[in-house]
Amino acid sequence: MLWGGRFDKKLDKKAMSFSSSLNFDKILIFEDIEGSIAHAEMLRSVGLISQEETDKITEGLSRIKDEFKGGSWNPSEEEFEDIHSAVEYRLKELTGETAGKLHTGRSRNDQVATDMRLWIKKAATGLKGKNRELQKRLVETASENVNTLMPGYTHLQRAQPISFAFHLLAYVEMLERDVNRLDFVYYESDLLPLGSGALAGSTLPLARELIVSKLGFSGITANALDAISDRDFLLDFLNAVNLGMMHLSRLAEEIVLWSSAEWKFVLLSDEYTTGSSLMPQKKNPDMAELIRGKVGRVYGNYTTLATTLKALPLSYNRDLQEDKEPVFDSFNTYYTSIGIMESMIATMKINKDRFVEELKHDFILATDLADWLVLKGVPFRESHSIVGKVVSYCEKANKYFIDLSIDELKKIDERFDETALECFDINTSLERKKTFGSPNPEMVKEQIAGWKSKLF
Ligand code: ARG
Repeated sequence: MLWGGRFDKKLDKKAMSFSSSLNFDKILIFEDIEGSIAHAEMLRSVGLISQEETDKITEGLSRIKDEFKGGSWNPSEEEFEDIHSAVEYRLKELTGETAGKLHTGRSRNDQVATDMRLWIKKAATGLKGKNRELQKRLVETASENVNTLMPGYTHLQRAQPISFAFHLLAYVEMLERDVNRLDFVYYESDLLPLGSGALAGSTLPLARELIVSKLGFSGITANALDAISDRDFLLDFLNAVNLGMMHLSRLAEEIVLWSSAEWKFVLLSDEYTTGSSLMPQKKNPDMAELIRGKVGRVYGNYTTLATTLKALPLSYNRDLQEDKEPVFDSFNTYYTSIGIMESMIATMKINKDRFVEELKHDFILATDLADWLVLKGVPFRESHSIVGKVVSYCEKANKYFIDLSIDELKKIDERFDETALECFDINTSLERKKTFGSPNPEMVKEQIAGWKSKLF
């Protein structure tokens, strides 16, 4: 126990198991030990503990780390409130009274805030790496599909032709924003709270700035009260996960659609699909569905912590212990989801010719025809209406654009000439796009080259 002095009785067993965070904060042991070693070295630098004591403490802590890794020391929830007290207790077993000096000038409040910041910085870096892998996969697949035609949709109705590469590059952009958000989370977490004590600093001459470089922070927090109670960086993290998972869920949903018999656009590998226990013919895109489904829990995690923090008075309150499970769960969910998405895309087959014939028998190039009239000086609103008439004519005559002759077009509007028919060529439809950011294959190739030089 860390506070024996004024207590006559031990914490009730039920109260211990209710309040212990050990089962889920064990994961912080490496950050906890890293922080403790840095703290001990700082205490030595300012003369609060001797070199010999520092050596004993750091050796003891390193041993605890090895024991934990090897499984020979595994503290239990019945005994300890959290990983911080468990490590301190074990250190006392190993080094005797010296262990008691480690806590000089330190509270578990600044300790846990430091551990969480260290952990989040690693988490953000790890997730950034995973996002980069997925971006690379998307760019690779895009580079093989610059000319793979597909319908682009609005309202889930066919709108204008695009390429599969163009569609995938939209996700590369989204993931880039996710990476930026993770950078922001890293930046926000990069200040050291250690040395804030329980809430109001210390009367001891602690040299906070000496710990900064040891732990790889970029600076120290400026107000002890804020540093102890601040969990904004965790909400930023959870929000970064929210948006990242939301992006994955949109791609997952599209994969579910594309792999259906109605679309027949992609074929998922057996390794990432499941069968039905009843219907022998089924091949289900469960991994994509689960990625889509798991967004609910990460949104829930954000709401959990945001609610915990609401109206919480400064500074530390035990409520703050509730920050951990949502954060760890969102991390695990996001990390594994990105990996599954990457593998699913790496192993899926694309039916490259799927839409080539089908889009000839469609009105998907209607806007191109309207644009053609605009270039002849027709106001767009009028050209829109003329093309509407062309579509209506086709529907009545049971025809598509490619079946039309120039005479039929001229009957609808005499300003049409032979070159208007070129608008109906689906194979050159992408090349005719002029604007930057469009699916013009040349522009898409340039973007792929740009991503390749950035990512690979
Ligand atoms: N397990 C606690 C938490 O995560 C550590 C801090 C405990 N501090 C305290 N004053 N009881 O919040």
